[in-house]
Amino acid sequence: MNFLACRVNEQDGKVAHQLAQMSIDELTPGDVVIKVEFSGINYKDALAATGRGKILKRFPLNAGIDLAGEVVTSESSAFAPGDKVLVNGCGLGEQFDGGLAAMARVSSEHVMAMPAGLDGRLAMALGTAGFTAALALHRMQENGQHPDKGPVVVTGASGGVGSVAINILASQGYEVIAVSGRPEHYDFLKSLGANQVCSIDELELGAKPLEKGRFGGVIDNVGGETLAKLLAHTHLWGNVASIGLASSHELATTVFPFILRGVSLLGVSSTNCPMDLRRELWVKLGQSWKPAQLANIITDEVALSEVSPVFDQILDRKRFGRVIVDCQR
Ligand SMILES: NC(=O)c1ccc[n+]([C@@H]2O[C@H](COP(=O)([O-])OP(=O)(O)OC[C@H]3O[C@@H](n4cnc5c(N)ncnc54)[C@H](OP(=O)(O)O)[C@@H]3O)[C@@H](O)[C@H]2O)c1
Repeated sequence: MNFLACRVNEQDGKVAHQLAQMSIDELTPGDVVIKVEFSGINYKDALAATGRGKILKRFPLNAGIDLAGEVVTSESSAFAPGDKVLVNGCGLGEQFDGGLAAMARVSSEHVMAMPAGLDGRLAMALGTAGFTAALALHRMQENGQHPDKGPVVVTGASGGVGSVAINILASQGYEVIAVSGRPEHYDFLKSLGANQVCSIDELELGAKPLEKGRFGGVIDNVGGETLAKLLAHTHLWGNVASIGLASSHELATTVFPFILRGVSLLGVSSTNCPMDLRRELWVKLGQSWKPAQLANIITDEVALSEVSPVFDQILDRKRFGRVIVDCQR
């Protein structure tokens, strides 16, 4: 049986993807075969499929760091045909054939039963973006973050991570300052629960190594100067979660926020998050942390055969919220 896949290849040092027909036997090995119902397009998938980022560890490989679907065959006693499951991170679409395909073959160690409160579509509305937002808040709360500490700034606010982060933070009682470069999405961000929406310039951040403490915490998706300046404005014992590099992978800062204010810079790495914590957070994402506006965070649903233009649109900041993919079309 042949099926459609978004296959990424490298030729003469140039990385590109194409929609190709392939068979199960050509997939990277695994003990569970899944009919993929939905996937989503993350920033990382766009980097991988276009070659604009060095994401894939081998070629050729199917793109897609997330998938949700139904088990077709399983050599593992943990799963049986008909089970609804999801796979997120764990090398999917980086080391192993990924979720932007109608079928996938994966290791049972990476498969999770679909959490209560979610189905394939909603799980992929969250995807790695939503999971990473939850992982960031988890790390911050483990380190003492609490609404009383003051407002939490979310940068790259209209993106996948940003929009889910805002919606979860607001539901957990945090005051949220959403920072976005696109005024056309301010109403969307307010509808997710942001108390204030503004551009980075409107925040009027200073450039000194230590500035007035204004924020209780930060969830940062953009890196670079924005992250450095927000660190300098974080209150005593606040937490700054570094998630992304949409603006820059660089960070020029001083030790002052850390040694004079006890500010913590927390790393957030979704790909290799330990499986126990991954399961715990997905259960939460289906229950107490399920974003109330999740249906609105899905801003488009495309067929697998239509994914190509979306990759560039995401990297060129022409999309917002989450784009999910129906992998059977
Ligand atoms: N650490 C991890 O495990 C992990 C997991 C998931 C994602 N990430 C990273 O987190 C970031 C966000 O991912 P995502 O899936 O949410 O991507 P996304 O949906 O494309 O959102 C990124 C957002 O960043 C802002 N942005 C884009 N280009 C920018 C630029 N040049 N300067 C400043 N802001 C810019 C835009 O928000 P506005 O237009 O509203 O400003 C955009 O919507 C990416 O860098 C991604 O690689 C990391």
